[in-house]
Amino acid sequence: MRIVRTRAELREALGELRADGRTIGFVPTMGWLHEGHLALVDQARARASAAVMSIFVNPLQFGPNEDLASYPRDLERDTRVASQRGVDLLFAPDVETMYPTGDPIVRVVPGAIGSRLDGAFRPGHFDGVLTVVLKLFNLVQPDVAVFGRKDYQQATLIRRMVSDLDLPLEIVVAPSVRADDGLALSSRNAYLSAAEREQALGLYRSLRAGEEAFGAGRRDAPAIVGAARAVLDATPAVKVQYLELVDPDTLEPLERAVAGSVLAVAAHVGRTRLIDNVVLGE
Ligand code: PAJ
Repeated sequence: MRIVRTRAELREALGELRADGRTIGFVPTMGWLHEGHLALVDQARARASAAVMSIFVNPLQFGPNEDLASYPRDLERDTRVASQRGVDLLFAPDVETMYPTGDPIVRVVPGAIGSRLDGAFRPGHFDGVLTVVLKLFNLVQPDVAVFGRKDYQQATLIRRMVSDLDLPLEIVVAPSVRADDGLALSSRNAYLSAAEREQALGLYRSLRAGEEAFGAGRRDAPAIVGAARAVLDATPAVKVQYLELVDPDTLEPLERAVAGSVLAVAAHVGRTRLIDNVVLGE
């Protein structure tokens, strides 16, 4: 695996891959790699002949009171596991490389979809995500890019950006990878104490309760959301920000569920903010 830090090195390395006739599958990340990230690498390799990963903790997508400074970082370990999983090229720029003139003035601003769910609690977050993802797409020029469904709203907005702005690549969204007990893998799980990790399972259990209500034939949102909410109400250590049944494309709240509707949750466990979701009827 080749590691590049600058735009010039990236351009050269990509040029070599292209000269060999390789197609590029791209997996953007913020590092602290886990099996969820690595499953995206598998998908990239299945769909293209070279896998390119980026690791960049993007300041633009963190709010002033968020965890930019403490976000977990270990480039040495990430390099090892990315290489073992078959990443061909790792782009790990620093902030000056990505934003040489400081914070960009021109940004990608999502419409209404970006203000719902997480967007309501993290103003400007998705502007930062879409702006860096568009920059990374322009730098890497991938044929296909792979994102995780764990960040459902992010994946939805990236798909919309690609279609609304006619970006010439294909987007693949891969299922969420979970620990054996169901907790969705996340770099932020690193913040959890043993007791908090146990409490965090409440998110998945509540989504499962919503899925079970749907499986049992309930279709009205209050019944499904209520079943999920009851689990979280029994776990007072989990402070819910939202728990909503939404349309998979618009993310608008639904009154009735159909197969494919999304049940999404965000909550704090201690100081750690976690998100998760399930697609009903899968
Ligand atoms: P990060 O949180 O590092 O996630 C990188 C990619 O891994 C995202 O597409 C995310 O959805 C996916 N992912 C995370 N946990 C997963 C899990 N348990 N199962 C499957 N996929 C999972 O998301 C970001 O970084 C950033 O916002 C980024 C897109 C890189 C822009 O800065």
